[in-house]
Formats: sequence, structure tokens, C-alpha cells
Amino acid sequence: MIELESVGRRFEGAGSVAALQGVDLVIRDGDYLAVTGPSGAGKSTMLNILGLLDRPSEGRYLFDGIDTDRLGERERTGLRGTAIGFVFQSFHLLAERTVLDNVLLAFLYGGLPRRERLDRAHDALARVGLSKRASFLPPTLSGGERQRVAIARAVGTAPRVLLADEPTGNLDEGNSRAVLDLFDEFNAAGQTIVTITHDPAVAARARRRVRVREGRLTVVADAQASKGLALHPGLPVIPAAPVVADEGTPA
Ligand SMILES: Nc1ncnc2c1ncn2[C@@H]1O[C@H](COP(=O)(O)OP(=O)(O)OP(=O)(O)O)[C@@H](O)[C@H]1O
Ligand SMILES: [Mg+2]
Repeated sequence: MIELESVGRRFEGAGSVAALQGVDLVIRDGDYLAVTGPSGAGKSTMLNILGLLDRPSEGRYLFDGIDTDRLGERERTGLRGTAIGFVFQSFHLLAERTVLDNVLLAFLYGGLPRRERLDRAHDALARVGLSKRASFLPPTLSGGERQRVAIARAVGTAPRVLLADEPTGNLDEGNSRAVLDLFDEFNAAGQTIVTITHDPAVAARARRRVRVREGRLTVVADAQASKGLALHPGLPVIPAAPVVADEGTPA
């Protein structure tokens, strides 16, 4: 589905920052990939590129074999709206719109009739166990419930890939587990997931784990490597090991 070829991202400003360098990565349908690494390593930069929110300054990003750099902004926005679902650490819900309206916002680009959008939004809320909260406003929900609304919004459109940036970063242990259980369930049903995390317990749920450090990517664990499906030809495969917290980063 996704192929990054020697992707680099450089930010020019007061100084020039090479946030990503020479990143090769293949993501297949049904994958569950965790990206770990210290603060400032380039993880969000990579996720923003995968989510078509940003463009590489070097290399190629192929989605279904299409070079995304050749797409215009409208096409990229359309592809993002239909093929990609986002979950962020801080939920990004509109406080003055109901839970249902927040989920409906995801259908902006699908061109579906209203009835269909409503059905799918209700289905998505049911999948995360929040049918009874459809008419509530987000500020009246708990943190765990808010994140589940954000997940319903992300999966409601049946995206090709779910991209999550620290999805449990603002949650306590119980709510984190609930979110991870949902991800397991969705992945078991075929949902492709890429999640960024500092938390070893979150990374441990994924079958494939890569690490970004100073803009470069290394493989930590790749369940597919043993089946002859290496993450990317030529990338070193380090045998699966228990995931450890990044040095200097609170677990
Ligand atoms: N828009 C930008 N302009 C300039 N520099 C940027 C920009 N976005 C990111 N950077 C720089 O690129 C590097 C990687 O940032 P990124 O946000 O990808 O890190 P991260 O791995 O997600 O860190 P964290 O775990 O703290 O979220 C950092 O040094 C950051 O300062
Ligand atoms: Mg980040």
C-alpha cells in the first residue's frame, strides 16, 4: 500500500534541520506498525508525510503505486479524506459540536448521501462502545471517551490506513488499554495501523516495530521478516527483542 523510498525532510529556518534522512519503508495491507524513538527524532515528521499533510523534500512516497508528489493539492486532500484516518494525542475534537457531529466531520470528502453518513457514524460509535454518548458534547466526556470518539471519527470512513500519533499519550493505564484493545480488534479485522509512541506497552502490541533516531529509521522487530517479507529489501533486520523505553524518555 505504502512505499517510502529514500525519503528525507529538511526544514529550512534559522538553521537547517534534517528531520528525516534516507527513510525506506514498506507498509502492506493489514500491517500493524509501531514507530518509537526519542523526542525530536522525526516521528511526527514521518507520520505527517505518510498522512499527506506534508511532502518529502527528497525521495518518493508511493501510495498504491502512485507517486504522491505528482498529485495536486486537491487530489492529495481527497486521498487523505478517503484513505487515511488520523488519531492524535490531544484528540482534536470540536468542543461545541456533539459527539455524532464530530464523527460526521470525517465524511466531508466521501460524497456519501446524508443517510449513509449517519448510519456509518452511528456504526463507528457503536464499534468504540459510545452509542449512548452520540448527543453529548466532548467537554462532558472523560479523556478515554474523547479518544474513543476520535477513533470512531478516524475509522468511520473505513480508511486504508489508520495513523496514530501518541494515541494514549493523554490517557491513564486503563483507558490506554481500552484504546489498544480497540486497535487490536480493528487490526484483527484487517485494518492497517501505524502508531507512534514513547510507551513500550503500546509498541509491544504491534507486530512490526521500527525506531527513528536523528531522522534515520532502523528495524526493531519485524514479524514478517521471518516469512521472507522484510520491511524493505536491504534494511538490516534486528532480531525481535523486548521493547525498551528510550533512554531519557519517561516510559
Ligand atoms: N515545521 C518545522 N519547522 C522546523 N523544524 C521542524 C518543523 N517540524 C519539525 N521540525 C524539527 O524536526 C525535528 C523532528 O521533529 P518531530 O516533530 O518529527 O519529532 P518527534 O520525533 O515527533 O518528537 P516528539 O516525540 O517530541 O513528538 C525536530 O528537531 C523539530 O524541531
Ligand atoms: Mg511528535
